[in-house]
Amino acid sequence: MQDMTTQQDREAYHRFQKLQYPFWRSPVWEVQTGFDSEFNSQLMDEIYAIGMDINSGKDRTPGNSIWDYSRPKLDMLKREIIDIVNRVVIRDIPEIRMLNIRTCEHFMGWVNVREPGERLEVHGHTESAIAATYYIQAKPNCGDLVVFDTGQAIDWDTGHLSDKPNVIERRYPAVEGRLIFFPSYVLHGVDENRSDALRISLSTDLRKVIDPQVSNTVILKSWGGRMAKIRNWKCSPS
Ligand SMILES: [Fe+2]
Repeated sequence: MQDMTTQQDREAYHRFQKLQYPFWRSPVWEVQTGFDSEFNSQLMDEIYAIGMDINSGKDRTPGNSIWDYSRPKLDMLKREIIDIVNRVVIRDIPEIRMLNIRTCEHFMGWVNVREPGERLEVHGHTESAIAATYYIQAKPNCGDLVVFDTGQAIDWDTGHLSDKPNVIERRYPAVEGRLIFFPSYVLHGVDENRSDALRISLSTDLRKVIDPQVSNTVILKSWGGRMAKIRNWKCSPS
């Protein structure tokens, strides 16, 4: 019984890893949107007004997330991000599609404003599935996004840590109008802003929307067999 389960796990693991787009190898997607400088200018006006109202106390019940505020350009960006995630992540990555994740939703959104000389320490986004950032104002040398790719630390033939674990530092320049997506567990930071302007970006955390009625949805029932072993498992006779 023990060997059979292990074999099933191994086969399932290899089925995932042989797929065309292995999600768990720390991929990063960049998408240049059609949003132009005029759009970004209006978006900044909306965000500035929201911030001023919060900061002045005029907004007496500030939302927890930027997505709690509905504004024309903000709403367009919100929709664009979901459309891209649905198209690129949910539909095009087979292993995600097999999990029957129907879509993703914005969990939390905020705005990063970094002055010249400022940087952002390394961190991960632990409460979501996918992290995305949209660059609203990004002058040359305003600070690359630095992503620590742990995909090379894994021996993908076995699924275990490689004998020579290797973490690769990948750098992505900030480009106005561009969206960048990566799995939320990936550690990342932002280099020092060496431009003479503010570096302004909007980040959002997306979480999965699952359908608990689908047979292979990863919810508690997926672990039922494992839990049942607690009292039922017997050592194999040696
Ligand atoms: Fe971040």
